[in-house]
Amino acid sequence: MAGRFITFEGIDGSGKSTQSRRFADLLRGQGVDVILSREPGGSAGAEQIRELVLTGDPDRWSAETELLLFTAARRDHLEKTIEPALAAGRTVICDRFADSTRVYQGATRGDLRAKVDALHSLMIGREPDLTIIIDMDPGIALERGLARKSGEDRFEDFGLGFQETLRHGFLSLAKSYPDRCVVIDGNRTADQIACEIAAYA
Ligand code: ADP
Ligand code: TYD
Repeated sequence: MAGRFITFEGIDGSGKSTQSRRFADLLRGQGVDVILSREPGGSAGAEQIRELVLTGDPDRWSAETELLLFTAARRDHLEKTIEPALAAGRTVICDRFADSTRVYQGATRGDLRAKVDALHSLMIGREPDLTIIIDMDPGIALERGLARKSGEDRFEDFGLGFQETLRHGFLSLAKSYPDRCVVIDGNRTADQIACEIAAYA
């Protein structure tokens, strides 16, 4: 039987990595065979593309070029990591997936959404079984994200207005895909948030 495919989405610094790790640990504690992955990345080739898209000047790539790079990374991740794991009956938890492209490339700098959707159906064609969207105050999330000093701040460097647009993008996406998306209030302690997400185990 194919495994479950679960994604975490939300703006930068909203707690996706923290909560996806905790959810993976919870499922493992229940005996579920889980792989925890992330995008961009999750396979050797996709990790190399990650470096290209997340570092350097904010204007390094146009939104169109970025869309192609993220889609190339996702295709490699899907072929090499996600699909083999699901076929083997493992549960895949992924920190970001196609919804990030819909929101970041599709709805922030010009309206590229039609191109995002066309590329997705041509090259990816898979949706998660469950998507947990962590919604929170963009100002606080941005402070948290930048405080990490990860060196991967190209998107954080677009500023607060950009993060606000993203937040609304994720909320409207949740309305478009009500069967698989749940919105979780991220303006709480990590324990409170994890407790609510545990209901989806
Ligand atoms: P994301 O993956 O969405 O960018 P992270 O999980 O990396 O977010 O969290 C960003 C930062 O905020 C990290 O330093 C993390 O330890 C911290 N953090 C995560 N969740 C919370 C929370 N609920 N309250 C306060 N700080 C948090
Ligand atoms: P991530 O490492 O999850 O960043 P953060 O921890 O700050 O949330 O993701 C890296 C950045 O890449 C993030 O700013 C969102 C962006 N991104 C896109 O623009 N499009 C995409 O398709 C994906 C997967 C990520």
